[in-house]
Amino acid sequence: MTAATTVAVHLGERSYDILIGKGLLEEAGARIAALAPTARLAIVTDSNVAALHLGTLSASLDRAGLKHDTITIQPGEASKAYGPFAEVCDGLLATKVERGDFVVAFGGGVVGDLAGFAAAVIRRGMRFVQIPTSLLAQVDSSVGGKTGINSSHGKNLVGAFHQPSLVLADTSVLDTLSKREFRAGYAEVAKYGLINDAPFFHWLEKNWADIVSGGPARQEAIAISCRSKAGIVARDETETGERALLNLGHTFGHALEAVTGYDSSRLVHGEGVAIGMVLAHEFSARLGLCPQEEPSRVAAHLDAVGLPTRLGQVPGGAGTAATLMNAITQDKKVKRGKLTFILTRGIGESFIANDVDPAAVTDFLTEKLGDAR
Ligand SMILES: NC(=O)c1ccc[n+]([C@@H]2O[C@H](COP(=O)([O-])OP(=O)(O)OC[C@H]3O[C@@H](n4cnc5c(N)ncnc54)[C@H](O)[C@@H]3O)[C@@H](O)[C@H]2O)c1
Repeated sequence: MTAATTVAVHLGERSYDILIGKGLLEEAGARIAALAPTARLAIVTDSNVAALHLGTLSASLDRAGLKHDTITIQPGEASKAYGPFAEVCDGLLATKVERGDFVVAFGGGVVGDLAGFAAAVIRRGMRFVQIPTSLLAQVDSSVGGKTGINSSHGKNLVGAFHQPSLVLADTSVLDTLSKREFRAGYAEVAKYGLINDAPFFHWLEKNWADIVSGGPARQEAIAISCRSKAGIVARDETETGERALLNLGHTFGHALEAVTGYDSSRLVHGEGVAIGMVLAHEFSARLGLCPQEEPSRVAAHLDAVGLPTRLGQVPGGAGTAATLMNAITQDKKVKRGKLTFILTRGIGESFIANDVDPAAVTDFLTEKLGDAR
């Protein structure tokens, strides 16, 4: 077996391990059989991942004697919607999986969120395994049990908490990920430094090139990210407090995804998060909460990696302050007319602010969009 790094997610009877390492896909059958030797598996994947890696996974399951069927969806955010969700649910039921069987989410965050949500509701809840194949999914979306789809009212508004039984993050599958998607996932890696771990952010400033090129720092960065998220999730599984910190940059980022119509050719999630994290630092500096030089340091790092950091970089434009505010207020982080934002006192010092004045955000966005012209 591969010498994988193990990160434990401590959630009482819902605890599970995240295994991180090269070659885990080839061992998926043995690893899943160790949990349930006679379970049937229904793999949900997208056509990109299927073309590149489904053969390896299927062969591994065959070697372990595990029966499996596959449901393949279209790649991209548009699949996190009611129509594809219904197709996945019906597809799973057609495979005749029972409650004790497993759904296997094999792909990026879109597949993980969609298949995880289907697993949460099919037969009132089935066990599932996450085999994340994008960097974003390995460091973020496959960990912590948030599943769901988008509605015309906003992103991730229909969903459930449903923890996987196992996460297998094979770092070698990242070699086939496009550079753009890899960078998008990197935004979420940087997020863990920005939230509460300044030394990790400083380490990333020195080691990002090795992470991008697939050197030893890659596995380490993924493990540190998973450990960080696992810790937060163990302390606050259903986001009554601290877990909201993981939304750093996401309120702005989700609004950008909404105004660009969830069109991956214009903006992918991690790119929205990158711009959103810079905006969160700039907004915090404008409110006098964080030193003026911090936003530039954050932007400089994300720029170096090749991520967009400014509203002016959104292809086709980032809309108006009004359209962005409309998207922001549709987002779920709004309570009694006040906005909840993750703000910061500096790198590694993010905090939850529950009473942000919408007018201050509108003014800030108006100014930023003016700069972008
Ligand atoms: N549940 C959570 O806690 C959570 C956290 C963060 C993000 N998300 C969600 O995750 C989604 C974004 O995830 P994503 O960035 O992985 O997007 P994605 O699933 O769309 O994957 C990005 C692209 O990469 C392709 N791909 C994936 N793995 C590949 C591989 N190994 N080789 C080649 N191509 C590959 C996919 O087919 C797709 O085209 C968003 O919907 C976001 O809301 C969820």
